[in-house]
Amino acid sequence: MTDTELTSGDFTQSAEPFRLFAAWLKDATAQEPNDPNAVALATVDTDGLPDVRMVLLKGFDEHGFVFYTNFESAKGREILATMKAAMCFHWKSLRRQVRVRGPVEIVTDAEADEYFATRPRGSRIGAWASKQSRPLESRFALEKAVAEYTARHAIGEIPRPAHWSGFRIVPSQIEFWHDRPFRLHDRIVFTRAADGGWEKDRLYP
Ligand SMILES: Cc1cc2nc3c(=O)[nH]c(=O)nc-3n(C[C@H](O)[C@H](O)[C@H](O)COP(=O)(O)O)c2cc1C
Repeated sequence: MTDTELTSGDFTQSAEPFRLFAAWLKDATAQEPNDPNAVALATVDTDGLPDVRMVLLKGFDEHGFVFYTNFESAKGREILATMKAAMCFHWKSLRRQVRVRGPVEIVTDAEADEYFATRPRGSRIGAWASKQSRPLESRFALEKAVAEYTARHAIGEIPRPAHWSGFRIVPSQIEFWHDRPFRLHDRIVFTRAADGGWEKDRLYP
């Protein structure tokens, strides 16, 4: 299928998920008012209780879907304990949903360093100053930490904190959903086969 057919034609004919995802993300980037790469990230804690929050997708290819975070945050600890996660994109104006689930890998240090270096200086300072997900006594305490790290890194490059890196969900399943009238939506799910290829099923809506 051509890229145009992937988005304007019948997406359920698509033979593999990554080109289809790329085409849908491209559409979202053109149409969503902000954060087309925002995605709900689901994890489970050590009691098996689910947890969910938004993150930004910062890369994807046939190896998986990458986002960055503080590894000492709730999500960081939950993923490090299970090495599993799921994601759900919802592009409201396109009426499309994509779900991804599978085991998780940690990105390489080189990959994390490369992305960290592209972040605005204030965000790099913030990665040092924020003890993400832990109790914060006051806004002032955060601003003080930011001021301290700003002074400490006044000159030269800001290194990536060891606790800040990326996770890659290596999909075992990717599902595409598109709104159709009377809730008779189209759904297709790709499941990774033993030989590394993809099996495709259409699902009842
Ligand atoms: C649109 C949006 C994008 C976000 N992107 C990220 C992100 O890429 N990484 C991150 O650590 N937190 C991101 N956040 C904040 C998280 O939703 C969450 O509040 C924070 O990471 C702490 O989550 P946790 O306590 O479950 O670890 C984002 C929030 C929103 C609303």
